[in-house]
Amino acid sequence: MPSATAHSHPFASAVPSIGGARGTNARAGWMHRRVGLSQLSLWPWLGVSGDADHEKRFNPFGIHRGGGGDPLEPAPDGPSELVHYHEPVLCKEVLHYLQPGPATFALDATLGGGGHSELMLQKGAQVVALDQDPVAIAYATSRLRAHAGRFCALRGNFRRFPELLSEIGVESFDVILADIGVSSWQLNDASKGFSFMHDGPLDLRMNPDGPETAADLIRTLDAEDLERIFIDYGEEPHARRIARAIVKERATKPILTTLELARVVETVSPRKSHRHPATLVFQALRIRVNDELGALEDFLKAAPLWLKPGGRLGIISFHSLEDRIVKRAFQHYATEFIDRPEWPQPKRNPDHLLRLLTRKPVEPTAEEIQANPRSRSARLRVAERLSLP
Ligand SMILES: C[S@@+](CC[C@H](N)C(=O)[O-])C[C@H]1O[C@@H](n2cnc3c(N)ncnc32)[C@H](O)[C@@H]1O
Repeated sequence: MPSATAHSHPFASAVPSIGGARGTNARAGWMHRRVGLSQLSLWPWLGVSGDADHEKRFNPFGIHRGGGGDPLEPAPDGPSELVHYHEPVLCKEVLHYLQPGPATFALDATLGGGGHSELMLQKGAQVVALDQDPVAIAYATSRLRAHAGRFCALRGNFRRFPELLSEIGVESFDVILADIGVSSWQLNDASKGFSFMHDGPLDLRMNPDGPETAADLIRTLDAEDLERIFIDYGEEPHARRIARAIVKERATKPILTTLELARVVETVSPRKSHRHPATLVFQALRIRVNDELGALEDFLKAAPLWLKPGGRLGIISFHSLEDRIVKRAFQHYATEFIDRPEWPQPKRNPDHLLRLLTRKPVEPTAEEIQANPRSRSARLRVAERLSLP
């Protein structure tokens, strides 16, 4: 159970605005005390740069090095609050298993449109949230501004969360949630190129500052490497044929947009079901461009260590590659003794940190799938941090 008592976490005790004053100055005061203003320029994920607009958008605590303005106002170039950004999945299940409450301190590692953060805030929790997409940070920070005294959003990759959070003085959580993958907004945003339903540049980066776009891979990799990506990250049965078709096509004309790539795939992989033949190719490219599996593995290496005894870790995944990683990691952390044929006797597992709360992944109900078809592949696994010996 997440601890029900008020804990002595530095975030909880130091934020003067919790349950009280919610002014920008109070929040900024807290930040000043925790880290000292001079350190702020070292925080690239807060976007504290010389650019005032940029600073306003990614500075949820309203720390400014000059100039005024409301730090919580929507990003001028981001989605307005009226758009449908993302429908959070498995909400009842998340609340049931993670039990956020007034005395809980939670990490939402994948803020997106802020749906899960909001659920936890509504239960009284304090939430620190991360996202690598600046649009998600701007949108959700604005949408959740009523909770600003208990909510803080940081831009960054969750694979680096220990580094990001250590620097703001955070050490442990009662609840950690990651709802991995992409949001509906990202999928529908033609400029990101996540979906071949809209024509757009072959980008596929969640983080617009990421080093490589899908177009870079399509342009530079040889047929063997492309085939490997389609097999490893898409389990695409026609991987070889598709990779060769791409190499042949680009010899005459560059493949730069989503529809151009989808057409090449269609020529060698005809439609057999309701699923578009390019679905797995786009999934594979997206996973590779964002190193999604590597990020998840890194996250899982650290997450259990950041839970308080009794704290809970929930991961929502959307395809079998991710769920397999989560399942294996959870099993490893839940194993007390490891036995190997070459050992005379089993050894205690130094990583025995968790107790599984879900033997099988929790799936959405038929009603949820009907209301939100995108939820159909969601799988939630939850584990609890063991008490210290
Ligand atoms: C499925 S959406 C989360 C939706 C959110 N739970 C809600 O209720 O609106 C996933 C979000 O996680 C972000 N994301 C995915 N991988 C990430 C990573 N490695 N680090 C940080 N953010 C990531 C994406 O940019 C996206 O906004």
